Amino acid sequence: MKPVKIGLLGLGTVGRGTAQILQRNAAELERRCGRQIVIHSAAVRNASKVAAEELGIKSTSDGAALVSDPEIDIVCEMMGGDQPALEWVLSAIEHGKHVITANKALIAVHGNEIFEAARKAGVVVAFEPAVAGGIPVIKAIREGLAANQIQWVAGIINGTGNFILSEMASKGREFADVLQEAQELGYAEADPTFDVEGIDAAHKLTIMASIAFGIPLQFNRVFTEGISKISREDVSYAEELGYRIKHLGIAKKTDKGIELRVHPTLIPHQRLIANVNGVMNAVLVRGDAVGPTMYYGPGAGSEPTGSSVVADIVDVVRVLDADPVNQVPHLAFQADVLSDVPILEPADFESAYYLRVHAEDKPGVMASITSIFGQLGISIEAIVQKESSPGEGVSAQADANTVVPVILLTRLVREGLIQEAIAEIEKLDSVTQSVAMLRVETLN
Ligand code: NDP
Ligand code: HSE
Repeated sequence: MKPVKIGLLGLGTVGRGTAQILQRNAAELERRCGRQIVIHSAAVRNASKVAAEELGIKSTSDGAALVSDPEIDIVCEMMGGDQPALEWVLSAIEHGKHVITANKALIAVHGNEIFEAARKAGVVVAFEPAVAGGIPVIKAIREGLAANQIQWVAGIINGTGNFILSEMASKGREFADVLQEAQELGYAEADPTFDVEGIDAAHKLTIMASIAFGIPLQFNRVFTEGISKISREDVSYAEELGYRIKHLGIAKKTDKGIELRVHPTLIPHQRLIANVNGVMNAVLVRGDAVGPTMYYGPGAGSEPTGSSVVADIVDVVRVLDADPVNQVPHLAFQADVLSDVPILEPADFESAYYLRVHAEDKPGVMASITSIFGQLGISIEAIVQKESSPGEGVSAQADANTVVPVILLTRLVREGLIQEAIAEIEKLDSVTQSVAMLRVETLN
């Protein structure tokens, strides 16, 4: 059989890892596919020309020509960004090529259009490397768990963010210093605010929610909060209460609709996912038949992500001659039966909550706070008054009146009620600063 020819768009962190695996494991891949897989050429801009020379790969700066080259069977998009990635992916599809992309922003924002074009052209668009780096979580949800009604998905799905949080918590390192290391290691996005502010995680959550629940991709409906919201104070109070703070993406199906949210979350410290550190990612998926399952591995990096790209290449090569009707649907469910179940507003999320209130240490203050919860019908799981911590988020004037942090944990409640409670608490004269709020998930 003729070898399958691959065109690479990008030869940076992911592109290089992919090329190295294709070259090093060529014989093993041929044994798996029954056909040889060869790299035809790579499109790069400037710096990656060196990588192309080192790897002995023909390079071009003309990506548009690469995606229309009749010699090429499969295009792997590993450039990132919106344009020209979108234009070249659509052009590759139009030219009858199968596409693999590591670009979660592209799929989360333009996936509906891309998959429609791919269906019309009868080609596959695969995107395993776009979610959780080297973990085959797309395949697990879309194929391995196909028997199930998925109830929820929750994961640490940004390697850079988890690396930063872990290094800060375990070694006391500064945020900026760890972020710089993550960039040097090739983990971070071209714009690292995507990692830090949860946008990258929201892209990945959008994709997982679609294949879990059979809904169209709806990136603009994801509620997103980043890790800059986490303070050292909350990390240590959470530890004392038996919780770790992790940055989670959560997609949950409820009777009223689907919650799509990315935010720092308190998790009981004994949960496996609470102990996932560094660049590692972990995704928990709960199905009605199988119960809870968990997928763990490197969430970013050159060869770990290349491993997912090459696995997608193998999948595509195995179905190259198959009738498109018999291929796995891009979003797990048949395209004409995607569901229009509503995505819920944040006020309708249901969670437990951690609140930190800075209040003057005088009689009646605790009672006035708890009576607000009582009036709103919110059950309190725990309430702890801490020692005052001068200098830590307490103003000099308030400190003079002995201000103490009061930590509250609620039971499950609708978020709209918690927002009402916070607004009422902040009106109290004895409360000296904004209330800090984090969500708590038991994930059981
Ligand atoms: P890099 O910045 O390391 O590499 C990008 C590559 O694309 C470079 O080779 C660059 O060439 C090339 N490129 C960019 N624009 C153009 C253009 N207009 N024409 C031709 N070539 C171009 O990015 P990563 O490898 O880190 O990420 C690539 C994609 O993979 C992104 O979508 C990212 O989100 C995703 N991803 C990244 C992971 C990681 O661990 N880094 C993990 C999972 C997914 P040059 O160097 O010459 O400018
Ligand atoms: N910047 C991303 C991360 C790359 O750190 O998780 C992997 O998608």
